[in-house]
Amino acid sequence: MEKFLVLISEEMKKGFAQAGYDEELGRVTVSNRPDLCEYQCNGAMAGAKKYRKAPLMIANDVAAQLADSKVFAEVSAVAPGFLNLKLNPDFVASYLKEMAESDKFGLQMPEVPRTIVVDYGGPNVAKPLHVGHLRAAVIGESVKRICRYNGHKVIGDVHLGDWGLQMGLIITELSKRQPQLPYFDASFEGEYPAEAPFTVSELEEIYPTASGKSKEDPAYKEEALQATLELQSGRRGYRALWDHIIAVSVGDLKKNYANLNVEFDLWKGESDADPIVPGMVEDLKASGLAHESEGALVVDVQEETDTKEIPPCIILKSDGAALYATTDLATIKDRMESFDADSIIYVVDKRQEMHFMQVFRVARKAGLVKEDTLLKHIGFGTMNGKDGKPFKTREGGVMRLEYLIRDINEEMYKKIIESRHEISEEEAKETAKVIGLAALKYGDLSNQASKDYVFDVDRFTSFEGDTGPYILYTIVRIKSILAKYAETGAMSDKTGIKPACNAAEKDLMMQLAAFNAMMSNACEETAPHKVCAYIYDLANAFNKFYHETRILAEEDEAKKAGWIALLCLTKEVLEDCIEVLGFSAPDRM
Ligand code: ARG
Repeated sequence: MEKFLVLISEEMKKGFAQAGYDEELGRVTVSNRPDLCEYQCNGAMAGAKKYRKAPLMIANDVAAQLADSKVFAEVSAVAPGFLNLKLNPDFVASYLKEMAESDKFGLQMPEVPRTIVVDYGGPNVAKPLHVGHLRAAVIGESVKRICRYNGHKVIGDVHLGDWGLQMGLIITELSKRQPQLPYFDASFEGEYPAEAPFTVSELEEIYPTASGKSKEDPAYKEEALQATLELQSGRRGYRALWDHIIAVSVGDLKKNYANLNVEFDLWKGESDADPIVPGMVEDLKASGLAHESEGALVVDVQEETDTKEIPPCIILKSDGAALYATTDLATIKDRMESFDADSIIYVVDKRQEMHFMQVFRVARKAGLVKEDTLLKHIGFGTMNGKDGKPFKTREGGVMRLEYLIRDINEEMYKKIIESRHEISEEEAKETAKVIGLAALKYGDLSNQASKDYVFDVDRFTSFEGDTGPYILYTIVRIKSILAKYAETGAMSDKTGIKPACNAAEKDLMMQLAAFNAMMSNACEETAPHKVCAYIYDLANAFNKFYHETRILAEEDEAKKAGWIALLCLTKEVLEDCIEVLGFSAPDRM
């Protein structure tokens, strides 16, 4: 379907053209004086100079042409030359009817869908997820869903940190604790045990212990470096142990991500890029892009137009080791070969901005991507505590994501049993989980990703204001009205929308009509916060209508059925929106 505002603008353009003016002047915007009108057009002001006429005269000419318009109920020219517009309720209702009958409410699908890889999550093996991983997961998941909803082919990749020194450290520590294991016996040729010699919690303790020791003891560190090297060059026992580490860790990560309603299509990691590195490095050398600098292999990425210094991208350290940037470049090569990606979007902390700038420039220079492949880093800000500093536990440590989720669920649980005494404990717990997730995700996503924000449990879990629970509450309210309506034996039909009878109803309808422009814009700009802002406005418009209208008590059955249709559409639009944000609504709360 054509976007609502486009249709309105087209009508206005016709008015300008018929009055003998340039139709381009007929651009319509949402009114910035909602007390006076619904939409407005400032084209007459813009045309004054060109036509050497008072803007008000132009506005009057245009208004006269639109007197019988089916789109506008009112076109008034007001000094000094604005066109104030009110829509014809029939036009709005027929637009909504078509929305209700269309797939995805008439959202336009791309003629040529893009293949988009979203790189998000980025957890590191053997380290528990902490709050720093929350934003990558929550924003990335939503960006993936928004692009997919808009008709693109989207692949979400977790890009595990599963390579490098952290692996050598774990292997070294294990070799001290359990030297009798066959993994450490270089002459062992049998089959290694199928069971891992550790649990997740042991693994999570082993890594920081090893890391601590390596900082104090150079010999220990040397061993770990050696183990890393041997692992990377394929030592059988270390590979087998590494497989265990990955399996145990990934199993746990999947559980944690599932609690966040986050799901990846690919569980690839930095290690998958490793076999691609040598060939890519050879190519970089052969093309003359990479050169030696102080023993290291680097690619210069500074450009003339840069206003600050962009250091060369280091491809190999002087000891020949590949680095973070090397892995990312090889991963780009892999993604282009596997998917011929049109976009690769990275949802990673904004502190890694320089890294991505360097990587993207090398990728372009080296022709790793197509000319028109979009490489985009969505750099997100920090989640802060109420003190404005990065969020910490009460003891000042890094908060595990698990505990953060637990805290918010507990808070939600308390609120639920306070307001609903009859609820069973089990239902209260389940509901708390569903609403808690909405509180957490909406609290994050409603902020522009690049901004820092304050994690505030009290505010996020409130049923009032710009919060996830408020949105869910609105959906639940609609569900309950629809259920009561169904109890009377009536059937609801969302396509039976009728022209609005009052301002609140019309407002709600115009808000609904803005859906597809909002959704395609959220995709273009990879901006989940736009979806949040939209559903907050929509929920407000609905609640205002609800408070002013006695829906179920209405005696005119046809009128009632029209309202029910409007409720159905509102509910479905809200549900699709929260689905792309990555959470859902309970039936009751
Ligand atoms: N594991 C990395 C970290 O903890 C994040 C990975 C982000 N993705 C990427 N392709 N570099 O910092």
